[in-house]
Amino acid sequence: MPGGIDTHTHMQLPFMGTFAVDDFYTGTRAALAGGTTMIMDFALPQRGESLVEAYHRWRTWADSKVCCDYSLHVGVTWWSDKVAEEMEELTEEHGINSFKMFMAYKDTWQLGDEDLLKSLKRCKELGALAQVHAENGDIIKENCRKLLSMGITGPEGHELSRPEEVEAEATNRACVLANQVGCPLYICNVTSISAASALGENLRRGTLVWGETIVAALGTDGSHYYNPCWQHAAGHVMSPPLRNDPRTPNLLMELLNAGDLQTTGTDNCTFSASQKALGKDDFTKIPNGVNGVEDRMSIIWENGVVSGKMDPCRFVAVTSTNAAKIFNIYPKKGRIAVGSDADIVVWNPHATRVISAKTHHQAVDFNIFE
Ligand code: URP
Ligand code: ZN
Repeated sequence: MPGGIDTHTHMQLPFMGTFAVDDFYTGTRAALAGGTTMIMDFALPQRGESLVEAYHRWRTWADSKVCCDYSLHVGVTWWSDKVAEEMEELTEEHGINSFKMFMAYKDTWQLGDEDLLKSLKRCKELGALAQVHAENGDIIKENCRKLLSMGITGPEGHELSRPEEVEAEATNRACVLANQVGCPLYICNVTSISAASALGENLRRGTLVWGETIVAALGTDGSHYYNPCWQHAAGHVMSPPLRNDPRTPNLLMELLNAGDLQTTGTDNCTFSASQKALGKDDFTKIPNGVNGVEDRMSIIWENGVVSGKMDPCRFVAVTSTNAAKIFNIYPKKGRIAVGSDADIVVWNPHATRVISAKTHHQAVDFNIFE
């Protein structure tokens, strides 16, 4: 079958006072070991930084290390006329065809509605695909303040500060804003039933919106935030968080099969125990991110195909073909045909393996699927 395409990774991302431990070498080596032959990563400028300079920095990091094919989405993490100009330069001269805006991470990457609207309009003008990380960052900031003042400092505070409706509200708002300016929209990392429902309602009202879910949300759940082992609980901290509703993985898988959700990424952004420990006394300081790039194909095969929720053709669609079509690299990728890239995976449906941080190919010392 066509090699997997992971639509959402963050190799060696500088984030929350440290760098993701899996870089473009260990991360893409692991991707290949798991049947993924292309990753889509993000160049994310600091507020005020040139988008083009950020793009070149990520190229320098990646080009010298990657083992598989990759592409970059570029983040619009602040707004000005220069940003608008650089978006054009990136599309015209560097082949960037998607930009990502964050509705969360207040005071760093978050855009307010006015700037988000401007970015969506600009994407529309340029014919680039607009992506959003949909969570209400203002509410999250206030919830974190409240929880800390109540003495809740552990990893469970992360999940409590970002309830499902915080994701669902932002998902709906993003759909409405995009629809108002006629801009096709891609919602990244949908992790909750509520957000998926908001997306589905907008889809059925006629909004041109695609949804990506994350293998972490298909393969495990938010009960781990309540594990008495701090390290274990912190190892699951990611945004949007895993949900403490055990129905979530199955329902997201069903929506992938039904077509409400189209793609599967990982948001692979790994931090080892010593890095997670930056938030030992304050959950807001735990670097956000988990693994997935190596195990995505296996987890979706196991929980999707083996469990009977999707057939092997749909598996190929949600692990590569849909991504190739949405991000405009089809039929070079996402298809086996004369003239297409020979990114071919030979999959043994009867093989078994044990997932373990001790044996995986990633650099990180923890595996949420173990
Ligand atoms: O927890 C996550 N997702 N970390 C990476 C940054 C982001 O939100 O994409
Ligand atoms: Zn991400």
